[in-house]
Amino acid sequence: MRRPDGTFGAFLAKCTHLDCVVQYREDKERIWCACHDGFYDLSGTNVAGPPPRPLDALEVHIKGDDVYVTRKS
Ligand code: FES
Repeated sequence: MRRPDGTFGAFLAKCTHLDCVVQYREDKERIWCACHDGFYDLSGTNVAGPPPRPLDALEVHIKGDDVYVTRKS
């Protein structure tokens, strides 16, 4: 994702509660898990609902106009 401040972030789209797929909620400007109404902020931090920890972050690298996302090593 590209955050409002222009920075990029990438996360595994797997909720840390019970592994449901999360999605971006434009109306809330949060990442949301529909299974049990869990919310994460744009840094991947769990902020509401049952998720017990932040989303697993991926590494983002910018090269020119290209964005590369990789798993952390
Ligand atoms: S699986 Fe995401 S809040 Fe429960």
